[in-house]
Amino acid sequence: MKIFGILAYPVHHSLSPQMHNAGIIEEGIDALYTRFEVRPEHLEEFFQKNFSRNIQESSKISGLSVSVPHKETCQKFLDEIDEAGKKVGAVNTIYWKEKNILCGTNTDYLGFLKSLEEKYELKNLGKKTVLVLGAGGATKAILYALETLNPLPKKVILWNRTVEKAEKLAKSFAVELFSGTVEELEHISKNIDLVINTTSLGMEGDFENISPLTSLFWKPHHTAFDIVYTPLETKFLQECREAGGTGISGEKMFLFQGIAQFEIFHGSLEQQKNISEKTKKIMSLAIQSSSQSVFEFEKNWTVPKISEPEKKDILGTIVAHKQTEIFASLEFFEQKLAMGEFLFSKKLREKKSTPHLIAEIKPASPSKGKVFREGDSVEKIAKMYQENGVSCISVLTDKKFFGGHIQNLKRVRSIVGRNFPLLRKDFIVHPAQIFEARYFGADAVLLMKSVLSTEKIEQFLQICTKLGMDALVEVHTAEELAEVLTKTSAEIIGINSRDLKTLQIDPQNFQNILAFGKKHFPEKMKEKIFISESGISSYEDVQNTSQNADAILVGTGILLEKTDELRVQKIQELLVS
Ligand code: ATR
Repeated sequence: MKIFGILAYPVHHSLSPQMHNAGIIEEGIDALYTRFEVRPEHLEEFFQKNFSRNIQESSKISGLSVSVPHKETCQKFLDEIDEAGKKVGAVNTIYWKEKNILCGTNTDYLGFLKSLEEKYELKNLGKKTVLVLGAGGATKAILYALETLNPLPKKVILWNRTVEKAEKLAKSFAVELFSGTVEELEHISKNIDLVINTTSLGMEGDFENISPLTSLFWKPHHTAFDIVYTPLETKFLQECREAGGTGISGEKMFLFQGIAQFEIFHGSLEQQKNISEKTKKIMSLAIQSSSQSVFEFEKNWTVPKISEPEKKDILGTIVAHKQTEIFASLEFFEQKLAMGEFLFSKKLREKKSTPHLIAEIKPASPSKGKVFREGDSVEKIAKMYQENGVSCISVLTDKKFFGGHIQNLKRVRSIVGRNFPLLRKDFIVHPAQIFEARYFGADAVLLMKSVLSTEKIEQFLQICTKLGMDALVEVHTAEELAEVLTKTSAEIIGINSRDLKTLQIDPQNFQNILAFGKKHFPEKMKEKIFISESGISSYEDVQNTSQNADAILVGTGILLEKTDELRVQKIQELLVS
């Protein structure tokens, strides 16, 4: 498997892994894209460790995206820097050229042009005057991009708070300097057509809600382009729009620079791989799906619209979307994840006269819509489960369809403490999600036979074992059980009464499948843990449908109770069954 990644410090907030991994999975490439958080003083060591100069084969890394603060300093570790990289003076992409030259380039300028082009006729720029704000690291990519245009803009005016820095840039780019104050820019406002913000003002954090311009600057004929994309709507864009102008967010620039990198990473330079529109769309969705915090996400979550054809194969619909949610996890190979201690299987093997209860934290579901009520939070529900004696908690982390979030594992862990078994319930399609599960605190993951081939299940089980994690392998039919029993090393088998293709429940499914297994594979059934899943919401249900189960998995059966007292009663009822 080839390894790619983003090199930056800090790197945690980068959306590049989600974007690149979504594309990698869509294109079926054997690669993983991760995060490399490297302090400036460790940069040399990082290059020595991961790259053998002139030999791609013996290098650990096949390509890098580079961000602040390494865009300039990484250059001395490269064999070659192309024209764009040299002119921009900053490298945002490192790749192997002809397998033996470690080369640096810059795709930010391409990202800028492509995203501008979506809303603006570049050929008209010949008649337009452009005002560029800022003279920092990002400014040169914009000035270089403008220089590659044909025709060139009528005029490019450069303004920066610190005039000396703008003067320096004016030596290498054909720009006119404006050395007045921000307020004085208002006087030339009517002559300007396009304004590009390359300063850090407006960015989430200390600079949020600050625009580099005054609101009086804006006129209806203006187009504002912001390279900032967190938040998507900066004050700079908002004020331009309020004055009747057009605003273009930096999100698309980020996407297009990433697409250009993707084509360089996964094709040869001479014959760059042209990725499909579908892959571009998936990469864009991955950015949108990852750009909100867990709390923002929770506040704004709405039931997704599922079309009639999608309803016919809801599982396929969910899985098709899954790759946009991958947080990217190879960092975990590097950073040595804390090994798990198989807490999940240990707990379920504890002898008990009634089935263990695995209670689920499920904020919503495609069949029920919102399950959480006013005042619910994952923390509150986790506390209620633990205090009332459930054996394990299943944390749904699917975002779009179940309103969950990978961060919810951490939130639950913070409530239940280190030794309480947590299952990550999601649609696992890629090994990265298992590492991610461990990183965020899960002891086990769900592997679904309806989603994964038997070979993949076995491969993923091996990964789990290496991480000290368990896997709940879920089946729905007799054939699936036979496959799992005879061709995998699964120890914990979930039998789902729900047909995930249609969402219909067959209450007798658990008993039927269990009986089938006992009849045909009596030896293989020994020592396994069997979990009855779906459609359980009462004492009678457990008695009628889940006899001989080692555990039952219940989510909505508890959460849909009208009050917290009734939820607790329900847990107690299920525990004595
Ligand atoms: P570099 O990319 O070289 O590290 P930077 O810090 O990213 O530089 O540059 C940020 C840009 O935002 C600069 O143009 C900076 O202006 P100065 O050169 O005057 O520092 C600009 N910037 C940052 N804070 C600003 C503020 N409060 N008002 C106006 N411009 C600001």
